[in-house]
Amino acid sequence: MVWKISTIVALATVLPSTLGTSVPPSSSNLQQVCTKIQRAISSASAVFYPGSANYTADNAHWVSSSDQSSACTVEPGTATDVSITLQLLGSTKAPFGVKGGGHITNVGFSSTTGVQISMTRFSSVTYDKKSQTADIGPGLIWDDVYAALEPHGVIVAGGRVSGVGVAGFTLGGGYNWLTNQVGLTLDTVTAFELVKPDGKIVSVTAADPDLFFGLKGGFNNFGIVTKFTLKTFSRDKVWGGVIGYGSDQMPAVQAAIARFASKVTDPKAQIIAACNFMDGGLQIDNIMFYDGPTPPPGIFDEFMNIPSVFTNVSTRSFLSVVQAGAVPAGARGAFHVATVLEFTPTTVAAVLNETTFWGNKLADDGAFLVSYNIEPFLPNLFSHGAASAYPPVRNTGYLPINLNFAWTPAKSDTIFHTALKESAQQLTNVAVHTGQAVSQAPLYTNYALADTPLERMYGDHLPRLRTIKAQVDPHNVMGLAGGFKF
Ligand SMILES: Cc1cc2nc3c(=O)[nH]c(=O)nc-3n(C[C@H](O)[C@H](O)[C@H](O)COP(=O)(O)OP(=O)(O)OC[C@H]3O[C@@H](n4cnc5c(N)ncnc54)[C@H](O)[C@@H]3O)c2cc1C
Ligand SMILES: *[C@@H]1O[C@H](CO)[C@@H](O)[C@H](O)[C@H]1NC(C)=O
Ligand SMILES: *[C@@H]1O[C@H](CO)[C@@H](O)[C@H](O)[C@H]1NC(C)=O
Ligand SMILES: *[C@@H]1O[C@H](CO)[C@@H](O)[C@H](O)[C@H]1NC(C)=O
Repeated sequence: MVWKISTIVALATVLPSTLGTSVPPSSSNLQQVCTKIQRAISSASAVFYPGSANYTADNAHWVSSSDQSSACTVEPGTATDVSITLQLLGSTKAPFGVKGGGHITNVGFSSTTGVQISMTRFSSVTYDKKSQTADIGPGLIWDDVYAALEPHGVIVAGGRVSGVGVAGFTLGGGYNWLTNQVGLTLDTVTAFELVKPDGKIVSVTAADPDLFFGLKGGFNNFGIVTKFTLKTFSRDKVWGGVIGYGSDQMPAVQAAIARFASKVTDPKAQIIAACNFMDGGLQIDNIMFYDGPTPPPGIFDEFMNIPSVFTNVSTRSFLSVVQAGAVPAGARGAFHVATVLEFTPTTVAAVLNETTFWGNKLADDGAFLVSYNIEPFLPNLFSHGAASAYPPVRNTGYLPINLNFAWTPAKSDTIFHTALKESAQQLTNVAVHTGQAVSQAPLYTNYALADTPLERMYGDHLPRLRTIKAQVDPHNVMGLAGGFKF
């Protein structure tokens, strides 16, 4: 490990006006920070400026509403260079962003007008057969991870559809196709390599109970993760794909979703029922997954027997199932979430009513997609892991409904954000009125809108998280980066 203390000391002469104050650096000082980083990092890393293709890629997100124009971008290639960069940012109090796969829809969570750190060069996957784990770079998307592991006959419990980043997904939770069997993705982490806010590079495992607890749900609050070690699972062929239904089949599909959610207890079977209002009409794209080459009879038959507008379900590789499910990205977009305990017929009907209601209502405001993802899991989904920042409660089977709105005009941002909140509240009210105790149920970090109170995501874990944060980052270096902050 190399400590470039000299670069920190030298910086004091370059940026005297910003040291020891909380005033953000001016843009010319930001340029000096960029130059300083460029000089301090090794040849494995690089700094990019507006006009270069790397700069554009480093600031780009799944939805362009999450993009900001940074002063420069840094692509660190080693943990030591992450450490050097983080120390320079901390000592100059320069705002910065940390981006993995860039799929978060909250503005400023993995973007900045300061120094953007893109983890793209952390792109290796190393499988260790003996420990049945894989070391995975935080610059990757899950598709690439599955592709690299496929020749070894193993998978990890990661993203369910194409394109999603490893880093934010794992650090926030990670509802995955094996959740009924192994829990959230964060439950399958055996180690994080972490660059702490003071620049130290450490391996965080269960032997460090506070940080291990905090990183599992705590995103960038404790530093920058440079490697994930995840459990692997031996798999050959699985079964799944998408089946799409038109608006004429809604009563039958509605009943099939509620039946699946209440009756299917085989942990290998899962669905995501995406209720979409697009191009002026309602459609349900049901993504089905079975963790084996052929599902036993009685699990998906009802779905298969309803007349569909398209279907693309087969026995295939795990990667192929994931790539069969792609979510169209609009120009602008945001996620939000409502939590329920059961997908009863009433709950499912309310979701479809919301889809139609807001699809019609928001059409004139430039809606591209109004979508609600029903995500049924077994009630014991949180029983597979030890305590972690998220979820705050493990003995109750809370289930997410992911709201995903996409639109075109920037002037409609507030309208869509307000609609997401109203609609999530409406779904909560319907569940509460039918006897589900969810008025204060936890909300999933990776789906929640930016202004969601921390208490609603982290619950009773918040005091402990704040204590850990104060110990690990006393100068609040990570407060210079956006996101949910302890
Ligand atoms: C199409 C789509 C499908 C999705 N499917 C699922 C799903 O099936 N299950 C599920 O649980 N969620 C799902 N999500 C939500 C997803 O988990 C979040 O968007 C997640 O944050 C994406 O991770 P990322 O690395 O792409 O995000 P980014 O935008 O790059 O980062 C998200 C957050 O993580 C922080 N971060 C990134 N890298 C690091 C690092 N190395 N160290 C410290 N902090 C870091 C960022 O600073 C930011 O705050 C989906 C999202 C989309 C858009
Ligand atoms: C980024 O820069 C590297 C070289 O520094 C280059 O190999 C790579 O292709 C660039 N990526 C993009 C998206 O331009
Ligand atoms: C499955 O359907 C989706 C959505 O229409 C499509 O994007 C994908 O290419 C299809 N995959 C296969 C293997 O047919
Ligand atoms: C449909 O949703 C709207 C908006 O939330 C609500 O006002 C209305 O009462 C709902 N209708 C039914 C039949 O549930």
